[in-house]
Amino acid sequence: MSESSVLTQNTIETIEWTRNGVVMIDQTRLPRETVFVTCRNYVEVADAIRTMIIRGAPAIGVAAAMGVALGALHSNDLEAEMPVICETLAKTRPTAVNLFWAIERMKQVYGSVQHLELDQIRTRLISEAQRIREEDIAINQAIGRNGAPLVPDGKTVLTHCNAGALATAGFGTALGVIRAAVEMGKKIDVFADETRPFLQGARLTAWELQRDGIRTTLITDNMAGHFLKSGRIGCVVVGADRIAGNGDVANKVGTYGVAVLAKENSVPFYVAAPVSTLDLSLASGDEIPIEERSASEVTHLQGVPIAPDNIPVANPAFDVTPSRYISAIITERGVARAPYAGSLRTLCHGIL
Ligand code: MRU
Repeated sequence: MSESSVLTQNTIETIEWTRNGVVMIDQTRLPRETVFVTCRNYVEVADAIRTMIIRGAPAIGVAAAMGVALGALHSNDLEAEMPVICETLAKTRPTAVNLFWAIERMKQVYGSVQHLELDQIRTRLISEAQRIREEDIAINQAIGRNGAPLVPDGKTVLTHCNAGALATAGFGTALGVIRAAVEMGKKIDVFADETRPFLQGARLTAWELQRDGIRTTLITDNMAGHFLKSGRIGCVVVGADRIAGNGDVANKVGTYGVAVLAKENSVPFYVAAPVSTLDLSLASGDEIPIEERSASEVTHLQGVPIAPDNIPVANPAFDVTPSRYISAIITERGVARAPYAGSLRTLCHGIL
């Protein structure tokens, strides 16, 4: 992986296909440094996903698709290598279903063009990966349009983790709803949970919204209950990594606690996600695999130890919010409400 010059453009380009490889903004170094890395082969893309240079469910889906395209570009025996490429990318992170959805879509395209010349297959896979990226931006704008009317004017919106432009190909899901509400002329303040242990809220959401000029206050995760009780929060909007058939939602660890506190205080709790985050093959959230990440993310802050040596650590990266805590699921195809088993299927009619 190579690093490139610091860019100072206004729009955040999370991930791009270029002649030199797949270029991504290094999210582990934000907000202190704006560095772009170039992945020149699929193994580097897999490393970037695993180490969270790129993260967020839709963004890792786009990255995986581009990884498959990069693998195809450098392979002279795609029939033998395609399963290895797909398997390597699929093994990077287990929870966000968008990763598997994107790999599956690339496999299907490969299956449909397998009989063509290698160069034609490569061209087709590269354009499919670029299409997935472009579609994601349009999908997020549609999620924003569908969700913006739900955001109360003149109130504060609480969000957890980063479901913004950085977590997607652009615009964001939860932050897309906030952006669209602001574009509609609503006066909105945002409270961003810092999101221990990886600090996506402090490092990424705060950075993104500040760049957009959206008034944002950073709070630590344990302050959410205090503010939800205060009457200041008009609604909560978060993203999702996988949504089961009954509407249970896996999202960044800590989301469940926020949802329970929101219900206790009668604050609407919204989930914003593309339909590619739905996994209707799972009956409930209990079946969603939860990634366990390294202990050092909990015991160290930016490389500095904050806990005694050898203390046992648990670090589940996600939790599951039961659907009874969710006021609505906002997708590009519309807004689903309980009972979700029916409403999610209706939204996906004809596509899943
Ligand atoms: O571990 P991460 O940073 O990949 O987790 C990201 C989240 O949990 C997001 O809320 C989710 O992927 C939705 S992103 C639009």
